[in-house]
Amino acid sequence: MTSLVDGDITVRAGVRDIARARERFGDGIEYAEFDFQRPETWGAAFDGIDALFLIRPPTIGRVKRHITPAIDAAARMGVEHVVFLSVLGAERNPILPHRRIEAHLRDADVNYTFLRASFFMQNLAEVHREAIAERDEIFVPAGNGKTSFVDARDIGAAAAVALTGPGHENRAYDITGPAAFDYATVAEIFSDVLDRPIGYANPSIPAFVRRLRAEGQPLAFVLVMVGIYTIARLGFAGRVSRDVEALIGREPIPLERFVADYADAFESAQAE
Ligand SMILES: NC(=O)c1ccc[n+]([C@@H]2O[C@H](COP(=O)([O-])OP(=O)(O)OC[C@H]3O[C@@H](n4cnc5c(N)ncnc54)[C@H](OP(=O)(O)O)[C@@H]3O)[C@@H](O)[C@H]2O)c1
Repeated sequence: MTSLVDGDITVRAGVRDIARARERFGDGIEYAEFDFQRPETWGAAFDGIDALFLIRPPTIGRVKRHITPAIDAAARMGVEHVVFLSVLGAERNPILPHRRIEAHLRDADVNYTFLRASFFMQNLAEVHREAIAERDEIFVPAGNGKTSFVDARDIGAAAAVALTGPGHENRAYDITGPAAFDYATVAEIFSDVLDRPIGYANPSIPAFVRRLRAEGQPLAFVLVMVGIYTIARLGFAGRVSRDVEALIGREPIPLERFVADYADAFESAQAE
């Protein structure tokens, strides 16, 4: 199964703003109010749930205060299996909160599956969209390092399989796209698919920090970005795995198709 909503499984989304989520995802699923920072929301959200897809919001740094207690509450409420969206290389990087969450899940009274995802292609259509659409450039300090970009739609498909299929308990998967590219090549792919020249600015890390701060981005966000692109710059983001194909039974989505599918997002608002 690569989609939960098409099957006979009841899906409940735990979200902070139910009205906003319903507007986006429709009436085909249940909604429960859920906020990692408001434990009073946890009980009703976990009630009757067998398996949980756990996403740690990047803004929550205090894992022991907000994430691991929620995992323990889920286990107490009878959740049997937690599929956790982790990060590629989490097992080797002690700084990452994901590693602490993985360690907690291994010891908790639940089965776990770790989906250790590479960099989402969708970041290019969100955080970097404006630079691409309005300035025809990709502005990230990743040097010549390669990244094994994965389409978030494939992460959803892999999560659906891990949540519902047999044999994924207490296992870890590396969730990557089909190939790794440096950003000069990413810019070439964008240029080919969008049919206009897109450049790779390859800024230094100080120049990147200066630009994002001048745009008014919060320092904490800028530092997370620097961490992510430093990992790519050092060559640690390029590992390609076949785990997605093994899980979902087809090739993961290539970067070319992502750019074509999201082409509208990369059009300038100034274009006629
Ligand atoms: N982006 C990547 O390339 C990438 C790659 C590998 C792994 N990851 C990991 O994937 C996870 C998600 O990353 P992302 O980039 O998708 O983050 P994101 O776009 O910022 O999404 C975070 C989500 O968490 C929700 N949220 C925020 N605070 C919450 C709270 N207190 N309680 C409940 N929900 C809350 C947000 O909901 P609202 O809509 O209510 O704000 C939003 O849906 C992170 O752990 C990240 O490290 C990301």
